[in-house]
Amino acid sequence: PAPLRVAVLGCGVVGTEVVRRLLEHTTDFSARTGAALELTGIAVRSLDTDRDPVVPRGLLTDDPAALIAGADLVVEVMGGIEPARTLILDALRAGAGVITANKALLAQHGPELYEAADEARVDLFYEAAVAGAVPVVRGVRESLAGDRINRVLGIVNGTTNYILDEMTTNELDFAAALRQAQELGYAESDPTADVEGLDAAAKAAILAALAFHSRIALSDVSAEGITAITPEDIASAAQTGHVIKLLAVAEQRREAGGRAGVAVRVYPALVPVEHPLGNVRGPFNAVLVEAEAAGTLMFYGAGAGGVATSSAVLGDLVAAARNRVSGGKAPSESRYAELTPLGSDQI
Ligand code: NDP
Ligand code: HSE
Repeated sequence: PAPLRVAVLGCGVVGTEVVRRLLEHTTDFSARTGAALELTGIAVRSLDTDRDPVVPRGLLTDDPAALIAGADLVVEVMGGIEPARTLILDALRAGAGVITANKALLAQHGPELYEAADEARVDLFYEAAVAGAVPVVRGVRESLAGDRINRVLGIVNGTTNYILDEMTTNELDFAAALRQAQELGYAESDPTADVEGLDAAAKAAILAALAFHSRIALSDVSAEGITAITPEDIASAAQTGHVIKLLAVAEQRREAGGRAGVAVRVYPALVPVEHPLGNVRGPFNAVLVEAEAAGTLMFYGAGAGGVATSSAVLGDLVAAARNRVSGGKAPSESRYAELTPLGSDQI
């Protein structure tokens, strides 16, 4: 088959690592997909920024719209709502498969994007949007598609887990721990979303939508972050054998009137140190999925950082490239409506 033209939008923490592996492992990718993957360009905001030497300067452009026009596959790792939303919609409508790590966008505009992908009969994959390298999106969407999920709970933000862990283990203060998380590439470009629980809320909405075959948006999630947690809170938790963790929980609930719905919330919780979630350290994530037939499954691993996240992005790229070569497409995601979200007053 002809080479597949791959456009990458964004060359920051995640994009640089995607480009590195795409260029360094070209033979792996062609063997695994059945077609060569040709990197046709990398869109950035500024052409003057110093970049990792692995990034070919000749492939950089500040015109993402022109870049996607000729692409078979588009990798969106620029973040933010606009222009990412418009670029992804344009790419899908032009018939390109899209891979994105953008949980904020999916949690706010997911249905519009899934519908565009279905109408164009192309893939829209987003494994990296939840829990970095951990394959929980595919696990819930595909491996558990024949089961009934009762509850999903876990730690889905690496920055806040790193901060809480540093405050607990090394007695670092909040600001110093956040600075380290930023330097290590775990935090969002504006870390408010991390520390206020909104990044975890976006991931919880995405996971809940998949687990309960429903339309759940960021606005359906009740979220509280970790900015009010003090060293004293951490010390008193330790005295009773607990650690403080920022948990995301999505579960089926029945309203007083009997209507079943999905309740989704993010909040700092006391977790016993011996609980599997109590042992999740640094930027790691862990998601427990409680299903009717499978029982409880735990998805665990590196939840943030450019290198780890590039694994999920590239896994999606291989899957989309294989579909492109075989003429297939992942199943529809735009028709979900088994349950409705319960308002936060019901939670
Ligand atoms: P960065 O801020 O490090 O990188 C963003 C990149 O996008 C930069 O190269 C920037 O260009 C480019 N960019 C931003 N806006 C535009 C624009 N309007 N036009 C062209 N290029 C643009 O972000 P990350 O790599 O950390 O994150 C990228 C995405 O991945 C986000 O959606 C994030 O939520 C998600 N994600 C991040 C993880 C992480 O651990 N960092 C983990 C999982 C998901 P320039 O370099 O010129 O500024
Ligand atoms: N800022 C996010 C986190 C990146 O800390 O978990 C991974 O999605």
